[in-house]
Amino acid sequence: MRKLSFIFATLLLAATMHAQELKTIKLNTPDKNRGSAVMKALSDRHSDREYAAKELSLQDLSDLLWAANGINRPDGKRTAPSALNKQDIDIYVIMKEGAYLYDAKANNLQPVAKGDHRGAVAGGQDFVKSAPACLVLVSDLSRFGNVADHTKLMAAVDAGIVCQNINVFCASAGLATVPRASMDQAALKQILKLTDNQLPIMNNPVGYPRK
Ligand SMILES: Cc1cc2nc3c(=O)[nH]c(=O)nc-3n(C[C@H](O)[C@H](O)[C@H](O)COP(=O)(O)O)c2cc1C
Repeated sequence: MRKLSFIFATLLLAATMHAQELKTIKLNTPDKNRGSAVMKALSDRHSDREYAAKELSLQDLSDLLWAANGINRPDGKRTAPSALNKQDIDIYVIMKEGAYLYDAKANNLQPVAKGDHRGAVAGGQDFVKSAPACLVLVSDLSRFGNVADHTKLMAAVDAGIVCQNINVFCASAGLATVPRASMDQAALKQILKLTDNQLPIMNNPVGYPRK
């Protein structure tokens, strides 16, 4: 009887642990007809460091990621241009339950690390921990091939463009964000299992504005 209870308890524990594993998040098809016109979005763009205590809807998250660096043409090119079309910027999405990698081709979020790692993105700015999603822009320098002197410069420019896509989309969709260079680089490299060639450059906490 004891043995049976032990087996039952073990099975229950295994089932619970399995349920806690992060799963791939399938994103929605982006709604390309939403948002205000570009001039209005530029007029509204500003840094916002206060967020409502509300999760991002799946549609908002899907549209945000597509606007940031999604595929917008049949040849696989992206909403953000990149130097030599090397598409070196990957977006990691850090949320309460875990960290994910945006897969633009599959239109999903691939699990990377379980747990709340927004503290590593905050790097001393506590307001970041209250954003429901933090987008961390990481350049994979190896995509430039033989690393040239100006590679990091190109990577920074590419990250800046993705970052501004995020800023303008947020302004047009009524979301709150701020572009940030501060973060705990070393912690993020470990959490996101980055190689020496992968460089976190910018991040954008994103949420709904706190009215
Ligand atoms: C490259 C870059 C790095 C930034 N890093 C941070 C940061 O680490 N933390 C922060 O709170 N704001 C950061 N900002 C936001 C700026 O402080 C902000 O854009 C500036 O004060 C102008 O305000 P505005 O965005 O509302 O026009 C950064 C902006 C840029 C462009």
